[in-house]
Amino acid sequence: MEAFNALVADRTVNGVKCEIRRLSADQLPPGELLVRVAYSSLNYKDALAAAPDGNVVKTYPFVPGIDLAGTVVSSEDGRFREGEEILATGYGLGVTHFGGYGEYARIPADWAVPLPDGLTLKEAMICGTAGFTAALSVQALRDNGVVPEGGPVLVTGATGGVGSVAVAILSKLGYEVTASTGKPEAKDELLGLGAASVIDRGELTPAVPRSLDKQRWAGVVDCVGGKPLAAVLGGVKYGGTVAASGLTGGTELPATVFPFILRGVRLIGIDSVFVPMPARRRTWELLASEYRPVKLHELSSEIALADVPAAMAVMLAGKSKGRNVVKL
Ligand SMILES: NC(=O)c1ccc[n+]([C@@H]2O[C@H](COP(=O)([O-])OP(=O)(O)OC[C@H]3O[C@@H](n4cnc5c(N)ncnc54)[C@H](OP(=O)(O)O)[C@@H]3O)[C@@H](O)[C@H]2O)c1
Repeated sequence: MEAFNALVADRTVNGVKCEIRRLSADQLPPGELLVRVAYSSLNYKDALAAAPDGNVVKTYPFVPGIDLAGTVVSSEDGRFREGEEILATGYGLGVTHFGGYGEYARIPADWAVPLPDGLTLKEAMICGTAGFTAALSVQALRDNGVVPEGGPVLVTGATGGVGSVAVAILSKLGYEVTASTGKPEAKDELLGLGAASVIDRGELTPAVPRSLDKQRWAGVVDCVGGKPLAAVLGGVKYGGTVAASGLTGGTELPATVFPFILRGVRLIGIDSVFVPMPARRRTWELLASEYRPVKLHELSSEIALADVPAAMAVMLAGKSKGRNVVKL
């Protein structure tokens, strides 16, 4: 196999720098599947992987990219054959194991999901980890009894990857979605995705948040965490459910127990990284069918490997919108 392009993050005296380098197959980590990567995507964790204080990657030089979709070039595992289209997200990919920002990747067969019918390789990466996390969050609301008739469902960080896919899925399923955003200029886009209303994120975090506030939300998909999540808990209706997956708004949770013990509010943690394979496949099947966003392609922009570092900086500044699909 010839040398191929990969985006390599490496330490410099000033921090971490990403640049395109030529790699050979023997520089790839061990694994049963050699994959010709067609698309990857950009997630918040990828941006952290290339940030000096991101605490995601421990050893450099490193190829980030927690998502990939492509074609199996060679397989040492009976479950996958040459020419098969697969996707992989999470586990150690792009964290401890070279990820999707290379034209080729070698991965353990245990991490691979056969591309479900109903999604192309590109569409799988429009979803990517962010869309997979949105789907897990929606499923958590449904599993905990949140139904469209129950009233409005709030999505925080609504213009981001997890948020925008969650808005699209929930509105497709008939929920009345309130989208919270820090980008007032994105209001029309969010309404176009299916939100019934859009609120400014500042509205959710008053100077003095109340432990118990007016009961507004039947459910919440939150990828922001921090004070905004703590403040939102007080506005959840009796018996409502909050699915929490992220930390863009902070890692502390300065909340009281009152929403839990007086209103039976459920706070469900969402992890996308180590979801066991049967549930992982089921969630991808849902993304390819019932949950598949109607305007899937409108959620994303396609970028090249060389554009990734600039897109990472936009993301870390909290200014990213929708999903960036990386074409290899
Ligand atoms: N648990 C898991 O397995 C898992 C999986 C995927 C992602 N995540 C986490 O989920 C979060 C979102 O990931 P993503 O890929 O969707 O990132 P993203 O595309 O950058 O979206 C994050 C959104 O959060 C909002 N935001 C940014 N800074 C904020 C701040 N200081 N206060 C409040 N809101 C802020 C912004 O939306 P608005 O401007 O619209 O408010 C932003 O677009 C990240 O923390 C990521 O690590 C976790």
